[in-house]
Amino acid sequence: MRYRKRKYFLAGRINLIQRSKIRELFEKASKMEGVISLGIGEPDFDTPDVIKEAAKRAIDEGYTHYTPNAGIPEFREAIAEYYREFYRISVDPSNIIVTAGAYEATYLAFQSLLEQGDDVIIPDPAFVCYVEDAKIAEAGILRIPLREENKFRIDPDELVEMITKRTRMLVMNYPNNPTGATLDKKTAKAIGEIAEDYNIYILTDEPYEHFLYEGAKHYPMIKYAPDNTIIANSFSKTFAMTGWRLGFTIAPAQVIRDMIKLHAYVIGNVASFVQIAGITALRDRRSWEAVENMKRVYDERRRLVLKYLSKMPHLTPFRPKGAFYIWVKIDRELDMSSEDFADWLLENARVVVIPGTAFGKQGEGWVRISYATKKEQLIEAMERMQAALSKI
Ligand SMILES: Cc1ncc(COP(=O)(O)O)c(C=O)c1O
Repeated sequence: MRYRKRKYFLAGRINLIQRSKIRELFEKASKMEGVISLGIGEPDFDTPDVIKEAAKRAIDEGYTHYTPNAGIPEFREAIAEYYREFYRISVDPSNIIVTAGAYEATYLAFQSLLEQGDDVIIPDPAFVCYVEDAKIAEAGILRIPLREENKFRIDPDELVEMITKRTRMLVMNYPNNPTGATLDKKTAKAIGEIAEDYNIYILTDEPYEHFLYEGAKHYPMIKYAPDNTIIANSFSKTFAMTGWRLGFTIAPAQVIRDMIKLHAYVIGNVASFVQIAGITALRDRRSWEAVENMKRVYDERRRLVLKYLSKMPHLTPFRPKGAFYIWVKIDRELDMSSEDFADWLLENARVVVIPGTAFGKQGEGWVRISYATKKEQLIEAMERMQAALSKI
């Protein structure tokens, strides 16, 4: 069928959203041969077999119907159990909604908590969805810079300075995309206290909580401001389940009540057999063994890429202790913007990296490298970069 030419009346709201600036880079790369992409933000591992088998079994057993909007009770129990076992945090299953990934969880939080006249503080740089979520919620956006000298942690003093009567929410994301930074207890505590003192929400997006290296630990913000914290979390990274669209949110009862109203009419519920597989992911020892293995491999690659980058001319990496990204500073002498550099690298080394400005203004002068790519590819990409940069 061909659509006739006609005038379409579209809601202006959607124009508030900016499509990713890096699409052009990917489009250009897709037309070139032999390109290695270090731009990918998803695990290259396959979902552990034990989880796949659980989903197949669930379909055969008839988990093909609607479930309660908030999710299958046993699955929500398993999520609560997980917080108890890993972090000694007591969460009531009634405070959990199973969502279509962390994307949905953050969207629900923005829509339920913010409106015109409210401000949200979003780090700069930050993962791309928060700013777009804020725009659709018509909230005012303030960016708090993350600085290298603070190891890309939010500076509590700077945060206090930014808070006004309009401030409703702070977004946090540790281990961090794009910097690979992790949180420390002192900062977590200080931010928790600020959130309580000024009564602002913390929306904390924690999908990389298991990818930690060099002894780094995870400090879930719910521990430090339990009444103010909304968690967005996901199975996407931990269990290499990006395509399954499985995540959850944890929030205080009043907040959950509002979030579920929206969730019920947009998603209804996450696929029932996917939720059943989620129970296996959390409770079966074999899925955790797979997570440990992924973590070990990521760490090997992280060290490998850092080793190359530390010797490479014109680039200086920040040493990350979390997630699967490396945030790399471009030498000022090169006189190239992040976008120019990414473009230059694609042309001259056939390697894709993400310009730091995709994550905010503070990303100028930086690029993000993902090591969620096979070792051989990483080595090849590093050698090509080394060769290209040595010629400058
Ligand atoms: C920080 C962060 N939050 C959320 C997401 C979205 O994850 P999900 O697949 O759970 O929706 C991503 C994906 O890259 C991410 O990096």
